[in-house]
Amino acid sequence: MIKLNTNYLKGFVADHEIAYAEDGVNAAAALLDSKNGPGNDFLGWTTLPFDLTTNPEYVKEIELIKDSAKIIKKSSALLVIGIGGSYLGARAVIDLLKSPLYNNLKKDTPDIYYIGNSINPAYLNEVLSIIEDRDICINVISKSGTTTEPALAFRIIREKMIAKYGKDGVRDRIFCTTDKARGTLKKLADEEGYRTFVVPDDVGGRFSVLTAVGLLPMACAGIDIDAVIAGAQKAVEDTVLPYASNDCYKYAAVRNILYRKGKSVELMVSYDPAYAMMSEWFKQLFGESEGKDGKGLFPASVTFSTDLHSLGQFVQDGSNIMFETVIDIKTPKTDIFLENDKDNIDGLNFLTGQNMSMVNRKAFEGTVLAHTEGGVPNIIIEMDKIDEENVGYLIYFFEKACAVSGYMLGVNPFDQPGVEGYKNNMYALLGKPGYEEKRAELEKKLG
Ligand code: PA5
Repeated sequence: MIKLNTNYLKGFVADHEIAYAEDGVNAAAALLDSKNGPGNDFLGWTTLPFDLTTNPEYVKEIELIKDSAKIIKKSSALLVIGIGGSYLGARAVIDLLKSPLYNNLKKDTPDIYYIGNSINPAYLNEVLSIIEDRDICINVISKSGTTTEPALAFRIIREKMIAKYGKDGVRDRIFCTTDKARGTLKKLADEEGYRTFVVPDDVGGRFSVLTAVGLLPMACAGIDIDAVIAGAQKAVEDTVLPYASNDCYKYAAVRNILYRKGKSVELMVSYDPAYAMMSEWFKQLFGESEGKDGKGLFPASVTFSTDLHSLGQFVQDGSNIMFETVIDIKTPKTDIFLENDKDNIDGLNFLTGQNMSMVNRKAFEGTVLAHTEGGVPNIIIEMDKIDEENVGYLIYFFEKACAVSGYMLGVNPFDQPGVEGYKNNMYALLGKPGYEEKRAELEKKLG
């Protein structure tokens, strides 16, 4: 379903180097399998794809998701409230499988707006004005139930919804995805009688897209979540194969080799704007998992050919700091046939009789050759088409590669101590009770 092509690493990584990496990868994978590595409280995602169809608790949750999606689909708009791991996965899959223009398409599913992923008031006001007279539901997603961005958006929208539908009326419209027992959101949901979905204790935010966190919004967008899960199950099977036939392990090996050779940026490349949010999800997954203890590849992303007209110059010719990981989707969802133009004023008749996807493919081929000649190694991840199975597969493929890569790097891939820094400063500067001393100290620094 997903195939690693290492042909464009020639001159950068030799075949024997990939072979020599086997022991390191196997040691990292063994740490993961034995659950003896750092962060081993957060390995629920490893078995999740099969748990979803075999563990009675998860099976019940999937039924609840489908049932709730039926209710939500009767409304004209769904607001998905969440940030980071509680937002990116759902949006990535919906954009990729449906469209980044999903809201503008003719469809029998609700429009989806994402809020609570920033603290910008203008953006929230704009969404509020769009949905003002519409029939809405919300899915608020927060594992901790205390994250400022979604909590603030939820407080604002809930007040408006109660004013519109009444305290009883909102019960069929507010769906909460959070910890099974802890946190402010769970407490509020229980007190108010809102339907709740569980983020399992042993699944961290950035590994949670295949729980209700991602699956409920996906189901509301009309995505076949069973097929997504089936694709992830296939990936579970393929990513335990021996190194020689395990593309996930080889991908982890190659990025580690390139990192040790001095590359510091992994640039995720796609030729489909629908993939842009998948790259955002990828960036969080790898950035939060590997970027610690002064180590890690910096994950960045571009959409080509769009960004060939901006960052392309840097990739080709700038500081030699990066390698590219290119998602090569062989067949687009739809195509456009190029007709002959009798006047040919634009000089494009040499393309007559071709599909537009062929032009995109030649852009890909030309770019891979140019960039490798410019000193930028290219890892190619091939996928035959965009469908539910392949997307489910890809998600698990990256999750497993990320965990193995993290262990190879000698970090705990499942914590994120670095994100507390800004939060504590922000709370202190906002005057949150308990942060008085810190506030004085920071205000002095700010002058
Ligand atoms: O991966 C992570 O842990 C984070 O990105 C979280 O998902 C993000 O901070 C949101 O946290 P929460 O779901 O607790 O609101």
